[in-house]
Amino acid sequence: MEMRALGRTGTRVSELCLGAMTFGREADEATSKAIVDRFLDAGGNFVDTANVYSLGVSEEITGRVLAGRRDDVVLATKVRFTMGDGPNDVGLSRRHIRMNVEASLRRLGTDWIDLYQVHCWDNHTPLEETISTLDDLVHEGKVRYVGASNYAAWQLAKALGIAALRNWEPFVSLQPEYSLVTRDIERELLPLCRDAGLAVLPWSPLAGGILSGKYHQGQDLPKGTRGGDTEEPITFTYRLDDRAWRIVDAVRTVADEIGKTPAQVALNWLAYRPGITSPIIGVRNLGQLEANLGAIGWRLEDEQLKALLWASAFPRGYPYDFIEYADS
Ligand SMILES: NC(=O)c1ccc[n+]([C@@H]2O[C@H](COP(=O)([O-])OP(=O)(O)OC[C@H]3O[C@@H](n4cnc5c(N)ncnc54)[C@H](OP(=O)(O)O)[C@@H]3O)[C@@H](O)[C@H]2O)c1
Repeated sequence: MEMRALGRTGTRVSELCLGAMTFGREADEATSKAIVDRFLDAGGNFVDTANVYSLGVSEEITGRVLAGRRDDVVLATKVRFTMGDGPNDVGLSRRHIRMNVEASLRRLGTDWIDLYQVHCWDNHTPLEETISTLDDLVHEGKVRYVGASNYAAWQLAKALGIAALRNWEPFVSLQPEYSLVTRDIERELLPLCRDAGLAVLPWSPLAGGILSGKYHQGQDLPKGTRGGDTEEPITFTYRLDDRAWRIVDAVRTVADEIGKTPAQVALNWLAYRPGITSPIIGVRNLGQLEANLGAIGWRLEDEQLKALLWASAFPRGYPYDFIEYADS
């Protein structure tokens, strides 16, 4: 697998990152171990989890299945979402971050986290409190780098500005939702990350499975899938609307044309998009992993890229259209 810089750091990560959100949920421990072993054997070195995934179970499994191979892996986890019933069991306060970094280290069975990410913006904590705490963790050696997830562009720009002014460790990466279905970050976040040199680690690159082509318009969502088995939305922000079906059709057409699967086409589009570091793939079994490993190492033709961009077009709105017009 190709290696890419983790933003402006000297650390290199594989062009696919393995997400551990299914560990302890769709994938039991034995399956999770087989998935991680195969991913590392295929040349991957980047694994992403979060304290909140199955309330710590994903981190525990990740820690156990990485035993003996920890040094080979750039390990990412996150903090921010609710871990208990108390008023301080959530958020990005110094108190919550400090307690949770210790809990994550314990569950992961490691002395350090390579990339510690804030899972989402926190309206209730001053940004200075959060960033200074993260800076301390880097200096204490508990954390190598810090990253953000689910930030708006103004929030990320403000955080980068504060870190620069105070000489604190800056966020080196952003983990946003990004796929052919969910292209909103192209308005502001992606240009900001490219300008500031942040790594971009897209989550739900298959829009939760929609882009695998397993769902068909007008038919019930099949059992044994995220869409068919849970009440939760397939992806947190998007639904199977007309635009999504149009995109799935375009992905299927390109896939048929070149003898790949729809999932491979959708992942390939993302992995080689300018500014993208490593899409975070999620799988429930070894078969899905094997198929998704086939998404890299080849390129879509210009005509195919155009067809995908056309089908997934979205309204950019003001001021983006105006700026483009002024520049033309
Ligand atoms: N920062 C955040 O807020 C955030 C949010 C979500 C996820 N994440 C991270 O991103 C990772 C990936 O997210 P995601 O799981 O939503 O990614 P995704 O790639 O959009 O969806 C993965 C799901 O699609 C289906 N799938 C995957 N490969 C397939 C294949 N080859 N054929 C058919 N179906 C396939 C599987 O679901 P079924 O088999 O159940 O259909 C799988 O669980 C997570 O593990 C986590 O690390 C972060």
